[in-house]
Amino acid sequence: MNVLILGGSGYLGAAVAQACAASGAQVRVLSRSGRAIAGEAVRGDIRMPRLGLPARELARVREETTHVVLCFGSVSWTSGPGEALETHSSGMRSVLTFLRGLPALRQAVHVSSLLALGRAQGRVTNRELYTGQRFRNWYEYGKYCAERHVRDTQQDLPIGIVRFGPVLGPDPRGGRPDTEHGLPKVFPHLLAGYPVHLASRGDFPCWVTDVTSAADLVWKALSAPIGRGTWTWFDPARPTLGEVFTEVCRPWGVVPKIVEAKPLGRFTRFIGERVGTPRELADYAEPWFDLDPGVLDDIPGPWPVPEADYLAATGRALLGRAEREIGV
Ligand SMILES: NC(=O)c1ccc[n+]([C@@H]2O[C@H](COP(=O)([O-])OP(=O)(O)OC[C@H]3O[C@@H](n4cnc5c(N)ncnc54)[C@H](OP(=O)(O)O)[C@@H]3O)[C@@H](O)[C@H]2O)c1
Repeated sequence: MNVLILGGSGYLGAAVAQACAASGAQVRVLSRSGRAIAGEAVRGDIRMPRLGLPARELARVREETTHVVLCFGSVSWTSGPGEALETHSSGMRSVLTFLRGLPALRQAVHVSSLLALGRAQGRVTNRELYTGQRFRNWYEYGKYCAERHVRDTQQDLPIGIVRFGPVLGPDPRGGRPDTEHGLPKVFPHLLAGYPVHLASRGDFPCWVTDVTSAADLVWKALSAPIGRGTWTWFDPARPTLGEVFTEVCRPWGVVPKIVEAKPLGRFTRFIGERVGTPRELADYAEPWFDLDPGVLDDIPGPWPVPEADYLAATGRALLGRAEREIGV
């Protein structure tokens, strides 16, 4: 198996590269920076025709690639329409055109996000994508477009979809955990002792998982293979948002200040923002949508096993970083 990982220098992509290499696959990792912690690193840009690869490199990639993972960024919940759509919509179209020209392609896997479902109405399973939903931000809409393009091409490409909620756990690349985007952006705020306002004090599922089991699931989708199916993966223990915050803060000896907020939609958001809740959280301060937990049953066993204590390990990795920064 010769796996090309688009976005394989990133947080999730690096873990996928490690999982594929550990299982004996030949791995090639493409990104603009051209970095890799496992496999051969290639510099390219998914927004460009033929991934922006020079002719010789392109010929090798075309000839050798049998499997492809699509896990390129950006992951910012606050990115604008330009950044989000250039990558996840027009970039995705360009990637799918490239995949059509791979003669030995056996299986591709698109890494989607549960956030592509936006403010979905009604119970959601692996079947639904458009439910008449509205989107909280351009990232959600970008990931919706990406999955839409992938679904539209499944007739002529062997491509499956894996959906994740927020992926947590120490960064497989080492170094400082990224708290610039998404849910982790809230962690420094909580660890500093500031309050967050959540409906039902965060007693609702947030569909997190850890980066290791997410990467194992992508490997499973390549090797099982998933075919043209859709799988959704989250920690089967289903920690609530309040539990996630509590566990991440535990190694710091901090009890997160979670304040009850009434689920009043825009009002909750307005109050949250006025009292300093990070913008990343303000839109997610109440249950996100109704996901059928039975979606896990579409994944053939055995399932990957999340790392024990990955939530606290996330907090410990942040603690290590803080200690290094203040020179302890
Ligand atoms: N992290 C999560 O919680 C989560 C949850 C669900 C789904 N996902 C999806 O998983 C994917 C990866 O997420 P992540 O957290 O690993 O993000 P990340 O750490 O920001 O990694 C993004 C990767 O994409 C590459 N990339 C970005 N723009 C590119 C371009 N134009 N051409 C080539 N490579 C490009 C980046 O490398 P360069 O910048 O060097 O190009 C990097 O390797 C995203 O599609 C995200 O939507 C993530």
